[in-house]
Amino acid sequence: MSGTSRADPLHLKPNREQDAPIYLQLYRRYQEAIASGRLRPGDRVPSVRSLASELGLARGTVEVAYQMLVGEGYFVARGAAGTVVSPRLGNLADASRAKTSTPPPGPSPRPQAPDHGAQPFQLGVPALDAFPRKTWTRLAGHTLRTLETVAMSYPDPAGYGPLRRAIAAYLGIARGIACTAEQVFVTAGYRGALELVRRTLLRTGDLGWYEDPGYIFARQFLERAGMRLAPVPVDEEGLNVRLGRQRAAEARFAVVTPTHQSPTGVALSLPRRLELLEWARHRRAWIVEDDYDSEFRYQGRPLPALKSLDRNERVLYTGTFSKVLFPGLRLAYLVVPASQAGKFRDMVNHLPDPGSALPQAMVADFMEQGHFTRHLRRMRPLYATRRGYLADALARMPGGRLHVQPQAGGIHILARLLTRQGDKRLALAAQADGLAVQALSDWRMRKSSQGGLLMGFANFVTAEDAAAAVRRLEAVLERG
Ligand SMILES: Cc1ncc(COP(=O)(O)O)c(C=O)c1O
Repeated sequence: MSGTSRADPLHLKPNREQDAPIYLQLYRRYQEAIASGRLRPGDRVPSVRSLASELGLARGTVEVAYQMLVGEGYFVARGAAGTVVSPRLGNLADASRAKTSTPPPGPSPRPQAPDHGAQPFQLGVPALDAFPRKTWTRLAGHTLRTLETVAMSYPDPAGYGPLRRAIAAYLGIARGIACTAEQVFVTAGYRGALELVRRTLLRTGDLGWYEDPGYIFARQFLERAGMRLAPVPVDEEGLNVRLGRQRAAEARFAVVTPTHQSPTGVALSLPRRLELLEWARHRRAWIVEDDYDSEFRYQGRPLPALKSLDRNERVLYTGTFSKVLFPGLRLAYLVVPASQAGKFRDMVNHLPDPGSALPQAMVADFMEQGHFTRHLRRMRPLYATRRGYLADALARMPGGRLHVQPQAGGIHILARLLTRQGDKRLALAAQADGLAVQALSDWRMRKSSQGGLLMGFANFVTAEDAAAAVRRLEAVLERG
């Protein structure tokens, strides 16, 4: 980054006599300054407030110009750290020079993907550009103004009460889970939920079933916490329960992603669900249901949670706000069987709590005021479109190197490798080129000859973004 020099606002003084509205003049001046090299990638620009006051303009006018510049990838807003010229605009000068002669607004070519803080193909990161920041900001003020004094004291280690109630209500409607707020525990991310289960119900060294392939980060977390994990193969019906019983009948727990298996995307079939629940009943084992991105499904209706079939109180259900809001929140939750709620309540009193009540209060308000449902309603078609961008770009790739598995939901795609190239080596080469694809083999516990590449699509804002990333991936595959 090239320092924190500020653009001289005097050079940007707008002329009220000109035909173009003031925001447009500001917008163009910045484009020109970037194209001519007067402003370089990484340079800090004045805040909206200070520029507005220096130029004697309404804040809204400057804000509109800045929003256009952020939206088109010229600027990156970095919260308290200020707004900077996108560090990714290394090669922009020429393209931008050509562009300054054609007046915006209207769809403008974006030479490079805007900086969303996510690399192309980044897994697990939702569409950060589409997060309703304005609503969130408004809510922050509201939440602070209305926060009861009791919420400013030491927070409940089980989570902020209104958020627990909002989660229980949401799960009843959206996931078919009948639970009370007392069964809901707010945690610091999914790992916080796993840790709470481990500390409350399991002992170090206990054996558990783990999907193979399966979510690598939770696997590493559990192994480091001293749990033993038995790989259980996943096929087109999800976790193969019969093989689990054969290979590790004595297991005390199973961790599963029944809605969209991570990473293959398949759903656990109903016969397998019943078989798994029956095994848990019989063995008095615990099932951890990781329902991390069930909200996003593109074919058919969302499947009910496994927990909704749990008649014998063996399922511990986990959900996260990382996909439906944003991962920086670090907020997830655990729903425990009613019979275990007392034990969990006792345990949370002796563990690090899930963090500040403030973000929890904001999420509670966000849910209660209907923004959450609206946001989800908006994100589903958006993800379907972005998924289409990536699937189409991959389908146009020549050479029959990849086969995209049809997946009904989620925010990533799994492409099987049809060549004999090693997926780990390819993923490493792609990562060295700034592409965040991951190798399926890295998510496996047992070796397999079937390689694949995992690719997130949530942050492909346009078809061209996806096509450009796929072209770069193609070059990596060609180099082999
Ligand atoms: C399979 C799976 N489970 C759970 C999570 C959620 O983890 P967290 O709440 O820590 O963000 C993720 C996030 O990527 C995931 O991919």
